[in-house]
Amino acid sequence: MIAPFTFSQDDTLLFIDQRRLPWEEASFPASTAQEVAQAIKEMVVRGAPAIGIAAAIGLYLGIKHYKKSDPQGFFSLLKESKNLLASTRPTAVNLFWALDRMERVAIQSPLPIEKLKRRLRAEALRIWEEDVSANRKIGALGADLFSSPVRILTHCNAGALATGGYGTALGIIRTLHERGLMKLVLVDETRPLLQGARLTAWELYKEGISHRLITDSMAGYFMAKGLVNAIVVGADRIAANGDTANKIGTYSLAVLAKRHEIPFYVAAPISTLDPSTPSGDAISIEERRKTEVTSLEGLRICPRGTMAFNPAFDITPGELVTAIITEKGVVQPPYPISLSSLWEER
Ligand code: MRU
Repeated sequence: MIAPFTFSQDDTLLFIDQRRLPWEEASFPASTAQEVAQAIKEMVVRGAPAIGIAAAIGLYLGIKHYKKSDPQGFFSLLKESKNLLASTRPTAVNLFWALDRMERVAIQSPLPIEKLKRRLRAEALRIWEEDVSANRKIGALGADLFSSPVRILTHCNAGALATGGYGTALGIIRTLHERGLMKLVLVDETRPLLQGARLTAWELYKEGISHRLITDSMAGYFMAKGLVNAIVVGADRIAANGDTANKIGTYSLAVLAKRHEIPFYVAAPISTLDPSTPSGDAISIEERRKTEVTSLEGLRICPRGTMAFNPAFDITPGELVTAIITEKGVVQPPYPISLSSLWEER
């Protein structure tokens, strides 16, 4: 199974360096919270659930070498590591969800320090296992929405590389493929960082799932031609009203889908739901380096001195989302009501 990292008995978190795919399957080892934070910030690892799991393991690595028996010093080191990991990327809520869960376990476990460290290691691995099993369920529930062979368009990479394994949007596509119902995946290249072309196409190619790469601007053409049966994307944060933050370009797809009466599905584990954020307006959108837009793989593609904008995510209003597929069930509008039934599971 493809996974974004492995974690060895000697506590090395070995990432696939996603910046270098598909050209090279290089690895990036991390054995401290600082190295994990660097991997998240520089997008060695990316995708909402994957960065949550990596951060949980990073938090454990942050406290692992604490040698004293004084709980106050332990908790201040925990806080310091948590703040460092939380400062890496602002939009995906899974990062904060995983760090809060780890901190809660530490506070609520009345254990001597050495045992508490082992407890935190186990908790991080449990977060990882739960994510893979959530993805399998999302895959099955999402695939149940289709009874005949389909063409699906997806954006960015919501696959095994973006999660603990298997993927959310690509989990549905994998399950449809296993059921013999996946006719063709249209893969948006996903400028500026090309997660669709570099990562989604890499996963689909490796597994022999039929796909075609398209530039982002071709999506409307294929919808108008009747060649897209559904759009399935992942999410970085889903607000209480169903507004969904996902990779820049997702919103345009949802508007096009509405125009062409094509179902637009968001697939995400409940760790991506954020009940404390009432609507998309309150979601912080990461602004990234302008050179990601003004150049492509290091080659400048516009006049020197041309300025650019580079928001990494956009917000798709809940009213454009046909259904949200989670491991606890498929919910439909009105989202303030349907999502609230999932909050307590979170
Ligand atoms: O900037 P990235 O590559 O981390 O953005 C990833 C996405 O937008 C994914 O669609 C999202 O995190 C869902 S991954 C299951």
